[in-house]
Amino acid sequence: MIGKKIIRLDSVDSTNNYLKEILKSGNPEEGLLVIAEEQIAGRGQAANIWLSNKGENLTFSFLLYPNYIKPINQFLISKFVCLALADLLEGHLKNIKIKWPNDIYVKEKKIAGILIENILMGKSISSSIVGIGLNINQFEFPSGINATSMLLEKRQKFNTEFILQSLIDNLNNYLSMIKSNKIEEIGKAYISKLYRYKEWHYFNSNGKTFKAFIEGVDEYGRLILKNKEKKSLVYGFKEVLYI
Ligand code: BTN
Repeated sequence: MIGKKIIRLDSVDSTNNYLKEILKSGNPEEGLLVIAEEQIAGRGQAANIWLSNKGENLTFSFLLYPNYIKPINQFLISKFVCLALADLLEGHLKNIKIKWPNDIYVKEKKIAGILIENILMGKSISSSIVGIGLNINQFEFPSGINATSMLLEKRQKFNTEFILQSLIDNLNNYLSMIKSNKIEEIGKAYISKLYRYKEWHYFNSNGKTFKAFIEGVDEYGRLILKNKEKKSLVYGFKEVLYI
């Protein structure tokens, strides 16, 4: 169960790193969650940094031993975590979307990010560290960062502990859906909340800009676009940019 045991830290480099160290030195139980008031070297996807003011937001990681998910289906982890976040935010805000692969947006601004680090062993995912950064009560972000928070969207402060508990409940509900094989349902829900789904927009890949729409996401988590020539194009993470 996610969050049955919680380690609370005042300050840490990154909760993902901290959990990785615990994993190296022992055999922590599935669901162990590490949360920090402050990360001094918070990590984002693709070597980006994750900036979050101390005590204002949620920055935490939890551990899974997802032997119930085949490595080729590892994108399922992204899907269920995105859905847990999107459902939680929809309870408070409008216009919540999942921006492929795993960012959560309010209109055109990012409100939450996910960093998943899997360790594969032969034919199974032996462990998965899932890091979540959710902007809650931060009023200002450094210039040039396309970010928002629940406070900025709703003009109201939120109780971070209450938000954490609701998020943990959502995560556990989706995890039990996976364990009871409701995979298709999760896939459909993910698509139904997809940012710019079936809308014509510009994309860029390999330096070329083109117009296309999102047709779907395949079982490997690759984005499927359809261009004006009605050709389907398939992209992995970082192979295509939204314009
Ligand atoms: C992204 O959108 O680039 C992913 C951001 C992930 C941030 C979270 S905050 C908690 C956990 N610890 C980290 O160092 N990163 C993740």
